Amino acid sequence: MTATKGLEGVVAATSSISSIVDGVLTYRGYDIDELAEQATFEEIAYLLWFGSLPTATELQALRRDLSSFAKIPEQVIAQMKLYPKTANAMAALRSAVSSLALYDEAADDMSREANEIKAVKLQAQLPTVVAALARIRKGLEPIEPKEGATIAENFLYMLWGKEPDMVSVKALDTALVLHADHELNASTFAGRVTVATLSDIYSGVTSAIGALKGPLHGGANEAVMKMLEEIGSLEAVEAFIAGKLERREKIMGFGHRVYKNGDPRAKHLMKMSHELGTMKNDTKLYDMSVKIEELITGQKGLKPNVDFYSASVYTQLGIERELFTPIFAISRTSGWTAHILEQYEDNRIIRPRAEYTGLIEQKYVPVDER
Ligand code: ACO
Repeated sequence: MTATKGLEGVVAATSSISSIVDGVLTYRGYDIDELAEQATFEEIAYLLWFGSLPTATELQALRRDLSSFAKIPEQVIAQMKLYPKTANAMAALRSAVSSLALYDEAADDMSREANEIKAVKLQAQLPTVVAALARIRKGLEPIEPKEGATIAENFLYMLWGKEPDMVSVKALDTALVLHADHELNASTFAGRVTVATLSDIYSGVTSAIGALKGPLHGGANEAVMKMLEEIGSLEAVEAFIAGKLERREKIMGFGHRVYKNGDPRAKHLMKMSHELGTMKNDTKLYDMSVKIEELITGQKGLKPNVDFYSASVYTQLGIERELFTPIFAISRTSGWTAHILEQYEDNRIIRPRAEYTGLIEQKYVPVDER
């Protein structure tokens, strides 16, 4: 038995939800480039869960369901108010999502129908939880979801306490489309491992949030913004990157286990970053990001991943850095829950083996003789 570090190249499941072939990402067979330009996040969630794009009637019904499920239990809001305001936002989100299960009487109902409803419910409630957490941490009261609004619109409305402008809504919606699913990424795998024991969907999503939090995965978008803040100006980029490379430190937002010739999602976020900067007459973050890309790609051959330009996009939308990874979680909830439903459909416990490298043939010595 020989282990493959990080399971690189190991095919651990079959899935019909999304695929990466020759650097092309598809959701249910649709190229991400086409979806990013034309689809809305609600259409994508439907596509991931049910396998086809919704008709107008199906989309309307889904939007109604999302709207009706968007409120979160008062008890969860009360708990969130007790969390330390300085706690890591992803840790707070992980706790709040775990708590949602306690107030869902169907949490352990394992029928397909109940699990589909819980998938929609989780998708509806995540934005409410993230917006409420953000407001509570600033000492503000959470705002109730608005009926009939889309996920992107509702999230910004609940976050800012006012109607968001349509440019911000469209930019966030596209970012949600781009982050919705990504084959067997670390958090999705964590979610599938959890529910493969026939544990419930809330446990699966809670595990996935824990895995997404790390800077080698979803936490990279926040780390990219920290780096841009630390650099501070376009003029300081070159020396900063040279120092990082000299110390052999990783540059967040670059590299990918699967894509070696570039992440197809990055160019969409790069374009959005440029458009938002131009609109605001301030392309500093975009210019700094482009310079970093030139240096890293030129010197290390590494290309930006989905997290790199999303940092400047979210900042230009006026969203605080600590919410970047929670927003990723809002989007990826669609993919996580689609994978969880798929796992339940044809389940077998996920239980690989380990290559043992420890001591052998040890003889027990009683404690007073050691
Ligand atoms: N900066 C500098 N060097 C890098 C980077 C980077 N961002 N990424 C990879 N490398 C180098 C490694 O140091 C290593 O070099 P070596 O062989 O000389 O030791 C080589 O490239 C291979 O890198 P690994 O870390 O072994 O690649 P792996 O496939 O295990 O990891 C990962 C992929 C985690 C994405 C890695 O590229 C990384 O840490 N990137 C930065 C964090 C990041 O942006 N994560 C988000 C990924 S996208 C997502 O999850 C949403």
